[in-house]
Amino acid sequence: MKIIWRCFSLRKDLKMAITVLVGAQWGDEGKGKIIDYLADKQDLIVRFQGGDNAGHTVINDAGVFKLHLIPSGIFNKNGESLIGTGTVVNPDVLAEEMAQIEAAGVTTDNLRISGKAHILMPYHQKLDELMEAKGGIGTTKRGIGVCYAYKMLRKNLRMEDLLDLSRAHEKLTVYLDVVNNMLAAYGGEAVALAELDEKLGSWADRFADRIVDPISYLHRYIDAGKNILFEGQLAAMKDIDQGIYPYVTSSCPSAAYAAVTGGFPAKKIDKVIGVAKAFSSAVGAGPFPTEDADDPQIAIIRGDGSKADDEFGARTGRSRRLGWLDLPVLRYTTMINGFDEVALCKIDKLDDLDSIKVCTGYQLDGRKIDHFPNTDELERVEPIYETLPGWRTPTTGIRKIADLPENARNYIRFIEERIGAPIHYVGVGADREALATR
Ligand code: GTP
Repeated sequence: MKIIWRCFSLRKDLKMAITVLVGAQWGDEGKGKIIDYLADKQDLIVRFQGGDNAGHTVINDAGVFKLHLIPSGIFNKNGESLIGTGTVVNPDVLAEEMAQIEAAGVTTDNLRISGKAHILMPYHQKLDELMEAKGGIGTTKRGIGVCYAYKMLRKNLRMEDLLDLSRAHEKLTVYLDVVNNMLAAYGGEAVALAELDEKLGSWADRFADRIVDPISYLHRYIDAGKNILFEGQLAAMKDIDQGIYPYVTSSCPSAAYAAVTGGFPAKKIDKVIGVAKAFSSAVGAGPFPTEDADDPQIAIIRGDGSKADDEFGARTGRSRRLGWLDLPVLRYTTMINGFDEVALCKIDKLDDLDSIKVCTGYQLDGRKIDHFPNTDELERVEPIYETLPGWRTPTTGIRKIADLPENARNYIRFIEERIGAPIHYVGVGADREALATR
C-alpha cells in the first residue's frame, strides 16, 4: 500500500506537458508555422489524424516544406516525431516526402510510425477517384476517406502488418474480395494480389525499423513527464462528427481525438491550442456563410498566387474560397475543443484594408439564432456583420502583440471577448520568425 502511494506521489511531482494543437476553422489556418515555433520545446511531436490530403507549410532555414504526412516536428533535432495511430499512411507518399526532406539535408532518423496506423493502399485511391467521378464532395482524391471507411469495415492492413508479410498476404487475400467487388461496382478494374505483395515487400524494407508499438512508445514519454505536442490536420469544422457533414474529412481533427487515438486518458491533456486565421477560407464543397467572392477587399487578401502564402491550397493548388472572420464558427470550435490559447494567423493579410467585416452572429429564416446551426441550416443563414476599422500599417516586422497597431489590437480584443479564449500568438507573415507573442 505504502509503495503504491509513493508511486502516485512521485507521478504527481512529474511535470506533465501534453499539448494538442488543432485548426479552429475550416483548415489552412497556418498550423504548420505555429507547430514549427513550438517544436524545439518538444520531446515528441505526434501527427494524430488524417492522411496526405492536406498539408502544413513550414518555412525555415532549410527551405519551404509542404508536409502532408510527416509531423512538422521533423525539423526538431532534439526530439522525435510519430505518425500516430489515428492517421492513414500512403507509404509511397511518405517515402517521397522523406526523400524531399533528406535532399534538403534534414535527417529523418527521428521519425517513427505507429504500428496501428492504417495503410492507404493504391485501391483506396482508385476508389476515391471513381466515387468522386460519380458526384462527390470535392475530395482531394487521395483515398483518405475510403481508407477510413475500410478501417471501419475492418478490412485494412496496418503498418504493423509490414512486420509479418506472410500474414499480411493472408489478410489481403480476404480483403481483396470486398475491394474488387466495390471496384467493379464503380466500373474499375480488379487489383491483383501479386502486385500488392510486391509493394508490401518494398514498404517493409523501407519502413520496418521505424514501426513502433504506439502505446508503450507514447507512455514512455508520458510517464517521464516529457513535452509532447499532438498536431491536428484540417480543423474542427471538418470533423466527421462535429463538422459540416457530409462536407467533412473522415477523421476527427478535434483535440480529444489525440487522446482517443493516442491511447491515453483525455484528462492528461494539459493545454489545447486552436489555430485560426484572421479571416475565413475553405477548400471543397459545403456551406460557408461568410464567403464573399466579389468583395475587392477579399481579392486583396487572396493575392494573385505568386507568393507561397497566397490563398491557394497546399495540396491541390486550388484557389481557396474566402470570406470574413466568422465568430459563431470560432465560438463553436472553442466549445468543442476548449481552447486554452488561440493563435491568430495571417493578420498581416489585413494590413492594407480600410475596414474589416466580422460576422458576430447568424439569422436563420429572419430570426437571430443562439445555437450553432446544422449543415442544412448553415446553408441558409445570413451573417450578421460588424465593421471594424483597418490599420493600414505593415505588421510583418512586429514581434510583440502589444506593439501591433491600435486597430489591430482592437481587432484581436474584439475576437477574444466574443469567443472567450485568449489569443497568445499572432501570425504577421509566412516566415518562421513572423510571429507576435504576448
Ligand atoms: P492544413 O493542415 O492543410 O489545414 O494547413 P495548415 O493549417 O497547416 O496551413 P499551412 O501551414 O499550410 O498554412 C497556409 C499558408 O499560410 C502557408 O503558405 C503558410 O506559410 C502561410 N502562413 C502561415 N501563417 C502565416 C501568417 O501569419 N501570415 C502569412 N502571410 N502567411 C502565413
